[in-house]
This record gives sequence, structure tokens and C-alpha cells, in this order.
Amino acid sequence: MRLDEVVGQVRHCIRAMHGYVPGKQPGEGAYIKLNTNENPYPPSPRVLTALREAVGADLRLYSDPVALHLREAAAALYGCAVDEVIAGNGSDDILTMIFRTFLNAGDVIVTPSPSYTLYNALSALQDAPCQEIPMGPDYTLPADLDAHGAKVVFIVNPNAPTGVLHAREAIRAFLERTQSIVVLDEAYADFAGESAIDMLHDFPHLIVVRTFSKSYALAGMRLGLGFARREVIAEMMKVKDSYNLDRLAIVAGCAALHDQEWLRETRDTIIRTRTWLQQALTEMGLHVPPSRSNFVFPTIPDGRAAAVFEGLEQRRILVRYFRGSRVADSLRVTVGTDAEVEAFVQALHDLLA
Ligand SMILES: Cc1ncc(COP(=O)(O)O)c(C=O)c1O
Repeated sequence: MRLDEVVGQVRHCIRAMHGYVPGKQPGEGAYIKLNTNENPYPPSPRVLTALREAVGADLRLYSDPVALHLREAAAALYGCAVDEVIAGNGSDDILTMIFRTFLNAGDVIVTPSPSYTLYNALSALQDAPCQEIPMGPDYTLPADLDAHGAKVVFIVNPNAPTGVLHAREAIRAFLERTQSIVVLDEAYADFAGESAIDMLHDFPHLIVVRTFSKSYALAGMRLGLGFARREVIAEMMKVKDSYNLDRLAIVAGCAALHDQEWLRETRDTIIRTRTWLQQALTEMGLHVPPSRSNFVFPTIPDGRAAAVFEGLEQRRILVRYFRGSRVADSLRVTVGTDAEVEAFVQALHDLLA
């Protein structure tokens, strides 16, 4: 068989898609990195100690396929049953499981836009079209979100890339009226202090997704959680990779959940810096939606967002720019340390002068 014949055998929907483009990941220290919403602080010392202790001969053995200890710790923390939790290799893994579990080719998914761009890539993989329903200028849920025959609706809350939180009442009202499965992607919920995990018992069509990549400073460990009714989790268990979390990830996740004091302190520090950053941008005359996450989303006036993005990169400051999208007039900026954020504000000030 010739190579072009091999490539010709690739599924049509894969050939037709572009593939998800993650934010740039340069080597350590090369840039001030405010582009992928990582935590600027190191993980809890308890996580690092637990990891060091776990590095040993046991690594020759497979990890627990169902990550029981991690799910037990999550169930205790979030007040649900162990069989209402599933663990993932990052929350992207949980999202992949949801797509594989629910979506046949041709099924429609809907997301209020702007939204997490990975949903587009996952829907293309599954040959299940993704419809983006624009949010209004204040980024509230679109009134017609339910009018598109979606099998699954994906809502990021607090939203990415805007940082705006949909109030619990709005989420509850949508869950009450919709006939779709609703996935709440709560990647940034720890920074908002609000979650819908406690609504699971009222709404069997709700799935909540969480990550350790942001608030727990563990993006490099790849850890996520999914919460749903036990019958739904049982189906998702069938589609996950057998050993989707490695031994070290499970150890790190347990230690992270057991150090809530570290989480509170780190989160409070990031929120203090976020408040300062938001204020500084507003004083520069920029519009910034009220962020409840660990990033802000200023609009850059006069069509200069692309130029400012490039100017920042030349000054070795990375932020996220969604070129060619309907939010191409804005930049998403992670809340870093005070020093990183001050350097960003200074550079932005110079570029806009
Ligand atoms: C809304 C949203 N969901 C999920 C993820 C993926 O996180 P993870 O690192 O857990 O795969 C991200 C990462 O940026 C995100 O912004």
C-alpha cells in the first residue's frame, strides 16, 4: 500500500479537522507565562512530599484502574458517594469520556460562546457538530440556549475565556427547563467559590467536571474529576482508558485534596492579585468583564489586540490570543505572581501609549 492510500483510509472527520492548538509551552523561565491559566505558585508541600515518597519500586506495578483512594477523597470533600465520581488524566480526559459515552455521529452539541475551544475539536473527532450560541455583551446565558436540539450542552462556569460567573439561579433555571444533558465545566470554580456539584441529586442530566490544573497547581500531573449520578458514572467507566491515571498522579491528587488550607491561602493570594490587575486595567481605560476565575479578559481598543499580543511576546510575556474568532479584540491574561502581573501591566501600558 502507498502512503497516500494509508492516509486516505483515515476517518473523514479526522481528515477534515484542524486539531486543537494548545497555548504555547516554552521552557521554564524563558517567558512570563500568562497564557494557559496555570497557577503561578508551586503545589502544596504535602503533594511534593507524597510524590517523593511514592517514587520507588512500586512503579513497576500498574496503577489502580478506578483510582479508588482519589475518588474517596473527592467524595468526602464534595459530599457525594464514591460511585458518583470518576477520575481523569486531566479534565480533558473526562470531557473526552463524555463525548465518547453520549455522542453518536450527527448528534449536536451546543455551547454558549465564547467557550473552551477544545469542545470544537472533540465534537469534530466524534463527527457530532458543535453549535456555538453567542452570549450577549454582558456574557449571560443566551435565552435560546435550549432551542437547538442539542444532545449535550457544555457550559464553562466561570466562563473561559471571559472569567464571568453564571449565577447558581441561572444554572438551576436552565437545568429545570432543558431536555439536554448539561455538562458544567468547573475548571475555575475554586476561584469563584461556587459549584453545582450539590445539584446532582436534583438533576440526573447534570455532569460536573473539575480539574487540578488551576487551583491545585498540578497542570503537569494531569488530574481531573467528573461528578454525575452513579448510573452515568458506571457508563463512563466503560469508555475510559484502563489505567488512565498513573500511580504518581493518584498520590498527588489525594494529597492535594487533603490540603485544603493550602488551597484557601493560594486562592486568596491569586484573588488579591486579580483584583489589583482588574483595577489597573480599568484605570487604563480598558473594558474588563468581572472575572471570578484566575484570568482576566481585557478588550484592546482600536483593533490593536493582535499587535499588542505580538508586542508582549517580543517582551517575553505570553498571553492568549484567539486569532480569527469573535473575541479577537481581547486578550486572556492569567493572574500570575504580583511581580509577573506588574511586568505585564507596565508592558501593556507602554504598548498602548
Ligand atoms: C474550561 C476548561 N476546561 C478544561 C480545561 C482542561 O484542563 P486539564 O488540564 O484538566 O485537562 C481547561 C484548561 O485550560 C479549561 O480552560
